[in-house]
Amino acid sequence: MSPEEFRQQGHQLIDRIADYRANVASRPVMAQVEPGYLKNALPQAAPQQGEPFEQILADVDQLVMPGLSHWQHPDFFGYFPSNGTLSSVLGDFLSTGLGVLGLSWQSSPALSELEETTVDWLRQMIGLSGAWSGVIQDTASSSTLVALICARERASDYALVKGGLQAQARPLMIYTSAQAHSSVDKAALLAGFGKDNIRYIEVDQAFAMRPEALAAAIEQDLAAGLQPCAVVATTGTTATTALDPLEPIGRIARAHGLWLHVDSAMAGSAMILPECRWMWTGIEQADSIVVNAHKWLGVAFDCSLYFVRDPQHLIRVMSTNPSYLQSAVDGEVKNLRDWGIPLGRRFRALKLWFMLRSEGVEGLQQRLRRDLGNARWLEQQVGAAPGWEVLAPVQLQTLCIRHQPGGLEGEALDRHTRAWADRLNASGAAYVTPATLNGQWMVRVSVGALPTEREHVARLWEGLQQVVKG
Ligand SMILES: Cc1ncc(COP(=O)(O)O)c(C=O)c1O
Repeated sequence: MSPEEFRQQGHQLIDRIADYRANVASRPVMAQVEPGYLKNALPQAAPQQGEPFEQILADVDQLVMPGLSHWQHPDFFGYFPSNGTLSSVLGDFLSTGLGVLGLSWQSSPALSELEETTVDWLRQMIGLSGAWSGVIQDTASSSTLVALICARERASDYALVKGGLQAQARPLMIYTSAQAHSSVDKAALLAGFGKDNIRYIEVDQAFAMRPEALAAAIEQDLAAGLQPCAVVATTGTTATTALDPLEPIGRIARAHGLWLHVDSAMAGSAMILPECRWMWTGIEQADSIVVNAHKWLGVAFDCSLYFVRDPQHLIRVMSTNPSYLQSAVDGEVKNLRDWGIPLGRRFRALKLWFMLRSEGVEGLQQRLRRDLGNARWLEQQVGAAPGWEVLAPVQLQTLCIRHQPGGLEGEALDRHTRAWADRLNASGAAYVTPATLNGQWMVRVSVGALPTEREHVARLWEGLQQVVKG
């Protein structure tokens, strides 16, 4: 494709995206296709000769679009908001179009310096002190993996340059709650801790980690000759947006010299609201934090911010320094390859920069406050309706709800819950996520897609009351 062809097709593609966003509400929210529908419709191998771009776009319309669930739809209440503000979409385009890579500062100086600057803007926006430095990773899963590798290396006095974990005399232990995201488990497994060395700390009635249970587990492990290494606490758990109490957890971690990583992948966005900052009181005691700007905040996926208090430790663990990447200015600059796992770095900062400048801090705050208000409104409706229950404190924009008609319990109640959630999702009118809480099925309603206004939440509530009737 020549630049001229690109110009022509690119304009049309932008028009398509603008039309899609403007009219997305007219589509069923959840994809209504069967497994294999697309694979069976596509050729088995790539074409030998190039095809006209128009033909490719026609296939997008006919084949791809029906197989999408629409996260940017106003009636999308599934999983979590993964908002792609259009300003950040343009930043993503530009990044891809420029096609530059950050292998070192010198390989694209603006890439490194814009990342440093925008991440520091976000640090200030979420109220972290100047003691933190940040970097953009792809996802929270990667950020948490990096955190646990750093924890491992601090606890083992840099075993990676010696015999590694295999030479450790005592197993290193990780502590988290059973409500933590599966990425914490995955990171602990991939960092070599082993399933047997993860302790799932009990939670309280609000699904938050109980600090006294954490302290007891650490004491027990010490007495058994094990080596406590790190605590992963969550501000805004996946199921219920529960808030682990960071102040006491931080005190316990510090008393034992443990690494404290805080997973704020979801709730970190809310920290741009001063009225929400109580939720992570004690955050300054942490060693590392992850905040997904690609969730509620609105940067097009992917853009996960990883903050650390001790960048020198991070660099010591992650640094590789082959001769072809060395330059005369290395002493004066940040080489962001040493701040995470991949060598190659996309120019992700562009989309963050575009969004922050285009929306402004106040614009972002306003949208998040809208969503918090809408969630509170829905909580009031559900809480006041006979037969309905809100199952967990609504800390942010996620509600965990259940409809329990008289006498229905156990498996029969589960069947009822799953059936109405499936009916609602299959109808295309809205998209919610069924999940288990305390071993029983419930439905998560996550408010906060970009175009979701009160009228959509009110329509959801009407739909919920209808759909449970069967
Ligand atoms: C609390 C929490 N942590 C981690 C993740 C994983 O995020 P990512 O997809 O960026 O790895 C999620 C969401 O999916 C989450 O809600």
